[in-house]
Amino acid sequence: MNTLELKRVAEIDYGTPEKDAATMVTLDIDGKTVTVPAGTSVMRASVEAGIPIPKLCATDTLEAFGSCRVCLVEIEGRKGYPASCTTPVEAGMKVRTQTPKLAEIRRGMVELYISDHPLDCLTCAANGDCELQDVAGQVGLREVRYGYDGENHLVAKKDESNPYFAYDPAKCIVCNRCVRACEETQGTFALTIDGRGFASRVAAGQNEDFMDSECVSCGACVQACPTATLTEKTVIMLGQPTRSEITTCAYCGVGCGFKAELQGDKVVRMVPWKDGQANHGHACVKGRFAWGYATHKDRMLKPMIRKQITDPWQEVSWDEAISYAAGEFRRIQQKHGKDAIGGITSSRCTNEETYLVQKLVRAAFGNNNVDTCARVCHSPTGYGLKQTLGESAGTQTFDSVMQADVIMVIGANPAAAHPVFASQMKRRLRQGAKLIVVDPRTTEMVKGAHYEADYHLKLKPGTNVAIISALAHVIVTEGLVDEAFVAGRCDAQSFSDWKAFVSRPENSPEAMEAVTGVPAELMRGAARLYATGGNAAIYYGLGVTEHAQGSTMVMGIANLAMATGNIGRDGVGVNPLRGQNNVQGSCDMGSFPHELPGYRHISDIATRQLFESAWGVTLDAEPGLRIPNMFEAALDGSFLGLYCQGEDIVQSDPNTQHVAEALSKMECIVVQDLFLNETAKYAHVFLPGSSFLEKDGTFTNAERRISRVRKVMPAKGGYSDWEVTQLLANALGYPMNYTHPSEIMDEIARLTPTFHGVSFDKIDRLGSVQWPCNEQAPEGTPIMHVDEFVRGKGRFIITQYIATDEKVTQRYPLILTTGRILSQYNVGAQTRRTENVRWHSEDRLEIHPHDADERGIRDGDWVGIASRSGQTVLRATITENVQPGVVYTTFHFPESGANVITTDNSDWATNCPEYKVTAVQVMPVTQPSEWQKQHQRFTQEQLELARIDG
Ligand code: SF4
Ligand code: SF4
Ligand code: SF4
Ligand code: FES
Repeated sequence: MNTLELKRVAEIDYGTPEKDAATMVTLDIDGKTVTVPAGTSVMRASVEAGIPIPKLCATDTLEAFGSCRVCLVEIEGRKGYPASCTTPVEAGMKVRTQTPKLAEIRRGMVELYISDHPLDCLTCAANGDCELQDVAGQVGLREVRYGYDGENHLVAKKDESNPYFAYDPAKCIVCNRCVRACEETQGTFALTIDGRGFASRVAAGQNEDFMDSECVSCGACVQACPTATLTEKTVIMLGQPTRSEITTCAYCGVGCGFKAELQGDKVVRMVPWKDGQANHGHACVKGRFAWGYATHKDRMLKPMIRKQITDPWQEVSWDEAISYAAGEFRRIQQKHGKDAIGGITSSRCTNEETYLVQKLVRAAFGNNNVDTCARVCHSPTGYGLKQTLGESAGTQTFDSVMQADVIMVIGANPAAAHPVFASQMKRRLRQGAKLIVVDPRTTEMVKGAHYEADYHLKLKPGTNVAIISALAHVIVTEGLVDEAFVAGRCDAQSFSDWKAFVSRPENSPEAMEAVTGVPAELMRGAARLYATGGNAAIYYGLGVTEHAQGSTMVMGIANLAMATGNIGRDGVGVNPLRGQNNVQGSCDMGSFPHELPGYRHISDIATRQLFESAWGVTLDAEPGLRIPNMFEAALDGSFLGLYCQGEDIVQSDPNTQHVAEALSKMECIVVQDLFLNETAKYAHVFLPGSSFLEKDGTFTNAERRISRVRKVMPAKGGYSDWEVTQLLANALGYPMNYTHPSEIMDEIARLTPTFHGVSFDKIDRLGSVQWPCNEQAPEGTPIMHVDEFVRGKGRFIITQYIATDEKVTQRYPLILTTGRILSQYNVGAQTRRTENVRWHSEDRLEIHPHDADERGIRDGDWVGIASRSGQTVLRATITENVQPGVVYTTFHFPESGANVITTDNSDWATNCPEYKVTAVQVMPVTQPSEWQKQHQRFTQEQLELARIDG
């Protein structure tokens, strides 16, 4: 497709946002009768009627500003020439958009802009994609009477500090779109118009470089800019794209829709899709800019095998690699039994790929030894919500937050981990919604531009359940229960047991104050606000799940929502913020050892029979091994083969040394990945993985929204991931013959009641669809549990607080908690291979000034962190964002070894690791830890064995 064709399929810009009003208004525009919702601008009404009006400062993603005066119209009975973007429609209005006078005024306005604009259109990066150029054409500008010699901005200095976009003030027309995008869309307020009149120019922060300002590099300003003033560096380098494809971001659980804009199969830029139902045209630094990893030189593109991990890797053909892996798996099974091998699915892969891996394990391996990385993040969500509400998924759409009056954020920092949703949440907060934050750290969610938490419950890590019981105590004992909701919708016996439990004095905020460290009055205030403040919605993250009582806390959250009637409609609900792009999907697809797709227990005879007849095999009725059990079995010598797709368990799972020891005992580890990751260093077969740009399929985001992933370039290693699993199944003698992932989704839909209505065709037609999507809900289900809970009556479950075994002692007096920051994505396999490392080039340990002082630690010093599991060394950042007694780090860089320190403790119900609570000691040191030295040696050896320069 050429640029012109691309433009034809480009979304129409209606100039001002759509209005949602009960009253419709009819008016006349250039003789055409137009009917639009009240409050719509004349500009939008006109564009909707197919009558474009020239514009520069207006765009339909931002509120009208009315500064450029290019969009003037004539309105019968009104004096002058009102701006169509700021004039709302009125019934009976007669508007004229094209008159000789208007043409003259518009031409005059554009002439002024052009007189202070470089005339380098032919060599400008925006040539063909510049609204100023377009408008000059539309108004018929042929000459500039003022000449170009007067005072101008043509030599203004460029700011190229941001790795992804450049700012060239010479081209700025001061339309303010970037400033408004940063405020309205992103909510960062990093930009202003500095100076007055002629001197006015866009400035970042306190007139700093973009990189030094509070800019978070979301790119909303770049997208909003109508000229080449703010431009992606890839566009400057490569030129304008010539074709585009709609796809879905492969980073976090927001699941933003994107238009991948390309030249041939080279990505030029990723533009958030305006019709994306999760993101409405917004994106963050990761999805919009950090896609360079897909073509990074570290990509491993050839299959490789080796007998032992001390042998050099041998590049082989796909046939050889697959038949070697299949042969090894069968050899191990013949010698050690069919349960001696298993597989791990990836929450970064598509639904179809995940489904195939679990099918391979159950049907071709003949056991249920399949687990997923969700084990280490949201498995308690699956368990806790299933027990209480009846479905293992969040209850709302993201858009629902715009109806919330009270927002409670627990153990989550969406500004860093789910940035596009955070922008939407912040918009609602700026509109006046109340905010409760439950977090041991003072994150950006506690206070930001034009919002501040009404309550910040800065609890001690590991005491979530104590907090939730205390909140429930207030609600029950102060008569704040929604009795009608509970009576109509919930199980009476479980409610009365729960009510009696939480009413006990030991669950009162006063009693829990000593446990949580949170003043009782704050807990009381937060509980009252949640229960009485109108629509109240809870959003939570891994700060809830990654605890010894993760599942208990999820159930406590559901209890609270049910008790206050905050479930089953817009603006309320229980919303787990899923970490990776397809965590929801990988769980839905039957990745857990005890569940077939759709969360149906493997022991259920009818479900098993359904899959047995579809797959032509007999299924094992016993649940298989979870990931931690696989490690234990490996150490016992009874688990020797593993197929690991798109998951780096050595870096991401807790107690690294334990994981590494277990993997060292295994005889055939098959790693399928983009890069030679930490796990691949223990592997015997390496199968090249494919990035999200190289395959078709679907991802399911945190709202249960299934969106398409579309192949925009051939798989660099030769096969998309689903094809590789299929090759392996066939080599094992279990036939799989899909010709396209849509056929896999058709099979999923046939076998899974909540997916009965899902198909690629339907997703293509609707843009995306939220499951359940079936006969009862043919176009999907935005809000769950509307009239009744999926399990019938909502079930309250008693949430007894039990302190974790991970206790602080004199030897380990601090608590380490871990998390993610904006520029980073999990173990960093992708983001470490992008310019995102410019923001944070290493993992740091955050420590409170008091604890640092006590230990003689200065900002930037190397510090040793020791736990009962191991030791590592990081540099310290001294900050009051953490409370005394708590330290914090990220786990983005393998050499940091954050998970060398984390322990084997885990959630009682699901084995989700207790990453958020590790007792540690921190001391100044001068050299790396023993583990780090050993890791460095091992990495060097492995790179040499793969003949890769270190
Ligand atoms: S990139 Fe985003 S945060 Fe930075 S200035 Fe632009 S809109 Fe604001
Ligand atoms: S940088 Fe672009 S969007 Fe911002 S004021 Fe200048 S021309 Fe307008
Ligand atoms: S918010 Fe998440 S899904 Fe959206 S662009 Fe950023 S990383 Fe991608
Ligand atoms: S587009 Fe209306 S004043 Fe600029």
